[in-house]
Amino acid sequence: MGIAIKGEFWFVKKSKVHGRGLFARKDIPKGTKIIEYKGTRMPPDALPDIDENEPEAFHTVIFSLDSGWLIDASRRGNAAQFANHSCNPNCSTIEEDDRIYIIAERKIPKGTELVYDYHLHQTGPFQKDWLTDYACHCGSSKCRKIMLKRKIPQKFLKFV
Ligand SMILES: C[S@@+](CC[C@H](N)C(=O)[O-])C[C@H]1O[C@@H](n2cnc3c(N)ncnc32)[C@H](O)[C@@H]1O
Ligand SMILES: [Zn+2]
Repeated sequence: MGIAIKGEFWFVKKSKVHGRGLFARKDIPKGTKIIEYKGTRMPPDALPDIDENEPEAFHTVIFSLDSGWLIDASRRGNAAQFANHSCNPNCSTIEEDDRIYIIAERKIPKGTELVYDYHLHQTGPFQKDWLTDYACHCGSSKCRKIMLKRKIPQKFLKFV
């Protein structure tokens, strides 16, 4: 069975940010649980090695739970995997009873793209490659230019 492309509050369509995105199917009140982030659960040490030569290598569909377990939306995932990142998001994610939900951070008008801040985690010294691997095209005036939680260090700003 394929992935459903619409639910009570959302539908999937092409996005100006990237590929397909998730959009509000009706006006959504602040605090609404819009969709659960579903996928196959993996233990913390099961993160697959990234083949950096793969064009889709940095296509993030893996969500970490507080326990360290991971949800891989590429396997048995739902449309929550289409929610794009924004540095000025109208949604966020919450964990409740070991499940992840995308929720409305404010009142969201029908037709608006539903976006949350991925806050992607990378440790160690900042790598110049991350500027392309994690480049952000959210279009917000507050854009950090990177989907990582950390900011681009001053000395790399000239490359963005
Ligand atoms: C979970 S998917 C989101 C759905 C994706 N648009 C699609 O069509 O499958 C995450 C990937 O979408 C892309 N993406 C999401 N938000 C982005 C943004 N603000 N800027 C650039 N790429 C973004 C990145 O490739 C990221 O790894
Ligand atoms: Zn951005």
